[in-house]
Amino acid sequence: MIRPPELYRTHRALETLEVAPGTRVVLSGWVQRRRDLGSIIFIDLRDRSGIIQLVFDPARGTPQEVMAEADRLRSEYVVTVEGVLERREAHTVNPRLETGTLEVLVKRLETLNPAKHPPFYIEDGIDVDETVRLRHRYLDLRRPEMQRMLMLRHRVTRALREFLDARGFVEVETPMLTRSTPEGARDFLVPSRLQPGEFYALPQSPQLFKQLLMVAGIERYYQLARCFRDEDLRADRQPEFTQLDIEQSFLSLVDFQSMMEQMMQHVFRTALGVEIPLPFQRLPYQEAMEKYGSDKPDLRFDMPLSDLSDLVMDTSFRVFKEAVAQGGVVKGLVAPGCAGWSRKQTDELVQFVGTFGMKGLAPIALVDGEFRSPIAKFFTTDQLRAIADRAGAKTGDLILIGAGPRAQVLQAMGALRSKLGQELGLIRPDEFRFLWVTDFPLLSFDEEEGRWVAEHHPFTMPRWEDLDKLETDPGAVRAQAYDMVLNGFELGGGSMRIYRRDLQERMFRALGFSMEEAQRQFGFLLDAFEYGTPPHGGIAFGIDRLVMIMGGGRSLRDCIAFPKTSSGTDLMTMAPSAVSPEQLEVLHLAVRRKAQPAGASPRV
Ligand code: AMO
Ligand code: AMP
Repeated sequence: MIRPPELYRTHRALETLEVAPGTRVVLSGWVQRRRDLGSIIFIDLRDRSGIIQLVFDPARGTPQEVMAEADRLRSEYVVTVEGVLERREAHTVNPRLETGTLEVLVKRLETLNPAKHPPFYIEDGIDVDETVRLRHRYLDLRRPEMQRMLMLRHRVTRALREFLDARGFVEVETPMLTRSTPEGARDFLVPSRLQPGEFYALPQSPQLFKQLLMVAGIERYYQLARCFRDEDLRADRQPEFTQLDIEQSFLSLVDFQSMMEQMMQHVFRTALGVEIPLPFQRLPYQEAMEKYGSDKPDLRFDMPLSDLSDLVMDTSFRVFKEAVAQGGVVKGLVAPGCAGWSRKQTDELVQFVGTFGMKGLAPIALVDGEFRSPIAKFFTTDQLRAIADRAGAKTGDLILIGAGPRAQVLQAMGALRSKLGQELGLIRPDEFRFLWVTDFPLLSFDEEEGRWVAEHHPFTMPRWEDLDKLETDPGAVRAQAYDMVLNGFELGGGSMRIYRRDLQERMFRALGFSMEEAQRQFGFLLDAFEYGTPPHGGIAFGIDRLVMIMGGGRSLRDCIAFPKTSSGTDLMTMAPSAVSPEQLEVLHLAVRRKAQPAGASPRV
């Protein structure tokens, strides 16, 4: 049995930088690498702070039995060593290590625990299948880049708390076992043992509770809240994720948004050392859609969409003419310097927009003052010049034009803009471009359900001047809602809230609820509104997304310690899993069909 030493450490690896050579140090950590030069053994010792080289050299006083023990060490063994900190000779300095000018000449070694050979190297930039990393997440998290993400996340949440605490916000915990809140996703349900046939829902967000805290007179609330949504997963979506959830009473919208900007500035400054300029740009939803084909445009590059509808509606090109005649639009964007693209290259783009339902994409190349295009014959030179001017194209550029129904063209051209921005290297990678998107529509018509649904959620306040249209022209009502967008991601969303029962009832009616239904589902909120509810509003930010963008990660999985795959599986614990018949029995449940045989390997 290996007994732990009396003292594990006097210093951590990186702290040796602050110690005078000649000092005796005790260090504990993992064997990163062992090099055996026959008479001398080198070990890179790793702890959370970094790496330092250990030397085992009998000629310089390492005892024989310590040499023998060092000979048995392998990667990831856990050890404690005692030795003397020494400056390395100039020719042995390792510039890749922060402690590269130092080494520890070892006098004593204790192996605390041996280790199996790990399935991948514990270092940055490994090229290993993600499923292997997730299965051994505890090893993956030992890698410095993963540790940096966890540290960054810690600094981010600490800075957020600091900022809010200094402004009188109070952190209040809200329940995890609750009633379903309609944020638009599917709920994760938890069966009740004590009440057969009834279920709790895990919160999609603390929305109703934070509003009730405003009724309760808390005035300024925040919470780092875990939220659960059973939706289709993508790189920027996890089934459980963390929101910084904020609500405030008696707030002026402008002051609140300005405070949120300052909060982001504080976080970037303290956690990353990056200075964010204020105020953030603002873009009304309509303008964002028209100009960038997205309600969360990445403004690290320009490439706006231009509207060509009026220029082409009277030309002889049927596709464009008909699109406009049928109420659609014709939108162009400029791929700078791409006039020389081959047919194959533009065909690939046609295929890309095809995935959004668009039937084609017309290219016009500007070469030496000439227009080259398969559709050039349908236009006069003046018409082509007008198109190029409107699009802002110069010689050497390629104009790409899409025509069709408005929503489809905006979505496809917006996606094309993102794709080209990335592929042409137009995005400045070190930049953080924040933006508020405002004036969202309150409602949108859901064709499948055949009714109006809330764009944000049903508790969002309509713009006062649009209130009259709630019954007569629901689609024209704008919301007092706003999103904070960062580098093409929706970082956060919030709104001013409805705080009167009569208006909340009108909203539910507009959404097609009967009053009985509304009372049954949200009676507690409607009732609360009758006991003196202050005007209030708030916002919630996706912390995982924030950390991902700040840390330059490509997926939310990079900044969550124990994430789930896109099929919702935790590959380490293999949750979800079947439960015993006894467990089902006490929950009054029976399983009709088993989804997936145990052991099947899920996709990431
Ligand atoms: P919303 O639904 O817009 O608003 O969510 C707020 C923010 O949470 C993040 N987010 C997610 N992050 C990771 N994985 C997911 N599946 C996921 N879903 C959302 C996003 C998003 O901007 N109650 C309202 C807020 C309010 O009105 O105050 C709400 O939840 O970054
Ligand atoms: P077609 O009429 O299908 O032979 O197409 C002639 C040209 O118009 C091709 O370059 C197509 O890519 C382009 N085109 C077809 N449909 C559209 C559309 N909806 N939007 C833009 N260009 C289109």
